Amino acid sequence: MDTSSELATQTRVSSQSAKHEIDWDAYASQYDLLATNNPAYRENIELLREMIPSFDLPSNPRILDIGAGTGNFICALAQDLEGASFVHLDFDEEMNEVAKKKYEHAGIEKVEVHCCPASEAAYLAESFDLIVCINALYAIHPREDVLKRVRSWLKPNATFFVIDFGRQYKSLDWGKYILGNVLRERGLVECVRFFVSVFETARQNRRGAQGQADGLYWTHSTSEFGRTLEGAGFDVRHLSTCYREYCDLAVCRIR
Ligand SMILES: C[S@@+](CC[C@H](N)C(=O)[O-])C[C@H]1O[C@@H](n2cnc3c(N)ncnc32)[C@H](O)[C@@H]1O
Repeated sequence: MDTSSELATQTRVSSQSAKHEIDWDAYASQYDLLATNNPAYRENIELLREMIPSFDLPSNPRILDIGAGTGNFICALAQDLEGASFVHLDFDEEMNEVAKKKYEHAGIEKVEVHCCPASEAAYLAESFDLIVCINALYAIHPREDVLKRVRSWLKPNATFFVIDFGRQYKSLDWGKYILGNVLRERGLVECVRFFVSVFETARQNRRGAQGQADGLYWTHSTSEFGRTLEGAGFDVRHLSTCYREYCDLAVCRIR
């Protein structure tokens, strides 16, 4: 989709957006409880960590996380990359507050938290060695424009690592998967407690699913995902699915 048709889509869905937009504030306090109990989420973090050696990073890489949320990916990267400095970019204050506390607790000092929509972020050209974007691109508009700017922020040999939720969200399938995991690991009583605790998050996920159906959130096949990245000027070196086949994962360099 080019930028003009993307803008048209944005206009068309604007009347539905307030209704079906995910309320990230409401999500923030329960996000980590859900993430910790979701093995597929932990697998995504491990996928990134396993790929780090192939990124040829310098000893003091500068790393941007777009839609960084509660900071779990920066925390994981900080464990493996001692000399790294980070920029955490996310437009939601509550998610950022959770992340800031986590960075403080983990002793991660070289991190700047920028509260700003990705479309308004401005960084110097060629200023990052690695940019990651995990399950946020589907919500970012105008996507093509932001992707082109992301490309411009990368140093010549830098990497863009992106995972994106491309398939239609199925509440029942995810509910069974996560609750089944909690039941197996922690037993029935804890499972019921967990269900009550993440109720709001489950509600937000259902709104997200409706937002996908309305076209507010981008759904894509793996090949469409790859074509979009190539269209924005990336050389897609790796393209696969992850997160129980709901997500696409790409590792890109600049063309
Ligand atoms: C599903 S969460 C993913 C968080 C984190 N990347 C992770 O995987 O744990 C999506 C995040 O993207 C952020 N987000 C959504 N649209 C955004 C935008 N246009 N600009 C900046 N952040 C955005 C939300 O606030 C939320 O924290």
